[in-house]
Amino acid sequence: MSVPKTIEWIGDVDGHIRMIDQTLLPGELRMIDCRDLPTVWEAIKMLRVRGAPALGVTAAMAVVLGVQGAGQEEAAFFSKLDEACAHIATSRPTAVNLFWALDRMKRLAASLRGEPVEEIRRRLLDEAQAIRDEDAAMCRAIGEAGEHLIKEGMGVLTHCNAGGLATAEYGTALAPMYVAHERGRGFRVYADETRPLLQGARLTAWELQGAGIDVTVICDNMAACVMAAGKIDLVITGADRIAGNGDTANKVGTYGVATLARAHGIPFYVAAPSSTFDLSISSGAEIPIEHRDPREVACGFGQRTVPGNVPCYNQAFDVTPVELIAGFVTERGLMATGTGQKIADFLA
Ligand code: MRU
Repeated sequence: MSVPKTIEWIGDVDGHIRMIDQTLLPGELRMIDCRDLPTVWEAIKMLRVRGAPALGVTAAMAVVLGVQGAGQEEAAFFSKLDEACAHIATSRPTAVNLFWALDRMKRLAASLRGEPVEEIRRRLLDEAQAIRDEDAAMCRAIGEAGEHLIKEGMGVLTHCNAGGLATAEYGTALAPMYVAHERGRGFRVYADETRPLLQGARLTAWELQGAGIDVTVICDNMAACVMAAGKIDLVITGADRIAGNGDTANKVGTYGVATLARAHGIPFYVAAPSSTFDLSISSGAEIPIEHRDPREVACGFGQRTVPGNVPCYNQAFDVTPVELIAGFVTERGLMATGTGQKIADFLA
């Protein structure tokens, strides 16, 4: 199956963003075009585009959209740029890649002060394209760095979607699976359904099936018995933000999976590019955690499953303490935890 790009820029500086509307998968593969900032903000907020690295790429391209029509006057241009960045930053708080990309775009623009506005806009588009291309290259490198973890005949559990749909290409947690599959290894992936928005059932199963990888979906609450039955040899998830000490925020439920993996003696790895590490914070306690509309829990996909007026709690991410993580698979290689090596030194 040939799958369109998760997100791309169409045209020149006056062009637009095109992305897969992931809320419609697996039923329908539809592209949507975002031609202004409110449309792309809504697409981020509603998870039409989602996954930490893909949010970084989207934020960078959204900046290019946000400065369209700024005119030629430098002060007005920079004020529009600041306004656009501040607005994009209000969309979703947890994935650090979004803020990392905004900072990178702002720093580039600041370094070009004094150049004609048209030139700055062109360079911002080049930078957004570079962020996209670098993300694809980092994900491929993550695949190469982690593929040896997946041995013939293994069962591999993953949570949420950290595949090509969550990145520019390949994915993070799924990248080692794609590379192992390319190299002819046979293994089975168990995809947690990932309540409430079912990224595992809808997205991970869709993209692995499309790639010809053996995938089975389980309800989130089945992970323990599937592990106890000896079906899981390895767990790999992605990450939305990794603190300086290695504590990792990822889709809610990841902490539970890591705890179960420890209880069953199964190694739990986190795969992420360097843009997901936030070395400005020292522990997971400092990671801002998104809380979403409780209706996502009460009436997932149109059907109300909770009695009226019963409150629902909808925390979108949780933090897995570094003690439960065997290692980080990054584009720089695999960093085992518990060796005393500092993440900052590994990434330097
Ligand atoms: O709410 P989402 O779908 O954006 O959450 C995504 C995740 O938690 C992914 O596991 C994470 O971003 C890693 S994506 C490569």
